[in-house]
This record gives sequence, structure tokens and C-alpha cells, in this order.
Amino acid sequence: MRTLGPGKLVIASHNEGKVREIRDLLGPYGVEPVSAAELDLPEPDEIGVNFIENADLKARQAADLSGLPALSDDSGLCVEALGDRPGIFSARWAEAEDGSRDFFRAMQRVEDELAALGPDVSRDAHFVCALALVWPDGESEWFEGRVEGTLVWPPRGSRGFGYDPMFLPLGGEQTFGEMDPADKHRISHRANAFRKLVAALF
Ligand code: IMP
Repeated sequence: MRTLGPGKLVIASHNEGKVREIRDLLGPYGVEPVSAAELDLPEPDEIGVNFIENADLKARQAADLSGLPALSDDSGLCVEALGDRPGIFSARWAEAEDGSRDFFRAMQRVEDELAALGPDVSRDAHFVCALALVWPDGESEWFEGRVEGTLVWPPRGSRGFGYDPMFLPLGGEQTFGEMDPADKHRISHRANAFRKLVAALF
């Protein structure tokens, strides 16, 4: 397997929350992260059928267009009683007709769909993070991480992003929305996927 040396690495995401977390996670490894937005790269349509396919297509396009190694993250919330939805459609559940994103709306939809299944429904859920690293010559490596938890209602906390305020990690007392970001970074799906990436590539 190739290793990743110092130098620029494109973070192939237009999601500022993710870019910020990835910068924090890569901080200690001497790479110089540049975001797809900073390079004005387009956002490809996520037409993959799973997290890995979507991560790969985003990183592949960024590597092709920039001539630099590119890393992308495709992630989402899988709710077991909803057949693992919203899954790869997690961002889409937050979209309004005008294209803006409102995660309270997405969390409300999760809650409404769970409520429709009755009071005894399981509230178990997990976040998944698939990472794809693609070099400009097309070679790629993939890593996947997850974190198990349960969903609370109403949402709690204003830190983090996306579905964080309703996700209580297994054994924890604070939701990802209440937690200090450094604590989230120790246990999250993204942290678990990054641990695998770091072990393999640095
Ligand atoms: P995509 O990977 O850009 O398609 O979008 C993933 C979506 O999943 C995000 O917009 C969030 O809604 C959700 N998501 C992924 N990771 C997290 C997380 O760490 N916290 C909360 N929501 C997340």
C-alpha cells in the first residue's frame, strides 16, 4: 500500500462541518488540507448505491481535476427501525424545495417516521463514515468506520452538525450536539475510519 507524505491533500467535500472535522483529525500528520471549495471544484452528483461508492466518486473527480491526492468522506445516519434510512440520503432529508438545508427538518422526519411505528419501536441507530483516498493516477484506498448509539427527542445541544443533537452514543450521557468536539473526535464514526486510514497510510 502507498503511504501519504507531506504536501497538499484535497478534501473533496463542500460540507464545512466535515471539512473542519477532517482538518482537525489530519492536523497532526503534516499534510496540508485544501478544500474542494477553495479550489472551486464542482460537486459531483452522488449516484453511488452505498457510502463507499459515493466517497470514491467524489475523491476521484477531485483528484482528476486537481492533479493532487484527494480524500472524501461519505457518511450518514442509519436508523435500524427505518431499514437503515436515511443512510446515503442523510443530507437529502434536510433539503428544502429551494435547495437550502435544515437539519431540524431532517431530525423531525426521523422522529415522525419512528413515532409512526409505535411507542415500543427501537431507537437504535449508527453513523457510518466511508473514506476514499484517490491518487491522481487513479489508485485508491477505502476505509469505513461506525459508531453505535440511540436517538433522543427533543434534540439536545448546538455543537457539531447534521443529526448530532439527536444522537446519543452508546454508554454516553451527552449527545454529539452537546459534547466537546474533541470528545466527539475520539469516538465518532469519522474518528474510527480515520484511525484505519492513519494506520494504513502514515
Ligand atoms: P454526505 O456524506 O455529504 O452525503 O452527507 C452526509 C450527511 O450525513 C451530512 O450532511 C449529515 O446530515 C449526516 N452526517 C454525517 N456525519 C455526521 C456527523 O458526524 N454528525 C451529524 N450528522 C452527520
